[in-house]
Amino acid sequence: MNFFIKLAAMVLVTISFNVVADTMQERTKPVGSVCMAGEDCAKTKSDDAAVTTAGRSGQAVYDSKCASCHATGAANAPKLGDTAAWSARIAKGSDALYTSALSGFGAMPPKGLCFDCSDAEIKATVDYMVEGSK
Ligand code: HEC
Repeated sequence: MNFFIKLAAMVLVTISFNVVADTMQERTKPVGSVCMAGEDCAKTKSDDAAVTTAGRSGQAVYDSKCASCHATGAANAPKLGDTAAWSARIAKGSDALYTSALSGFGAMPPKGLCFDCSDAEIKATVDYMVEGSK
């Protein structure tokens, strides 16, 4: 009996946490982002397969790991959706940006401090950021 009460409490807490998190995400969405939560807009045609088999989506990794700098511009990080800040970077090509994200670049730390991210997840996240900043 006790177990069921605990279980019900856990479920309730989980549900309410998700609701709060969703609302927060909606309110703190960066200006210029056209992706809605749950939408699959991080994909590019060329690496469809890589993205779908990569575990977490680019958006999920971005929201949890990269937004701390890339939504705020901390340490002069180029903000998601800031086309002016991204155009010269995007011009370097995806491979150069993947390398920057994986190995670090200036004040950008290796893997954006996402140490449990696979390379594929980092690349999907770079794609997501590039797509949202064109
Ligand atoms: C601690 C802050 C911080 C975090 C966290 C962070 N970045 Fe960055 N990022 C930066 C800064 C600062 C720059 C600009 C570096 C420069 O131009 O010297 C940057 C630049 C970049 C660039 C452009 C690199 C280039 O070659 O122009 C990419 C791509 C990038 N970040 C991806 C990511 C991804 C993906 C994540 C999350 C997994 C992430 N960043 C997390 C600070 C951060």
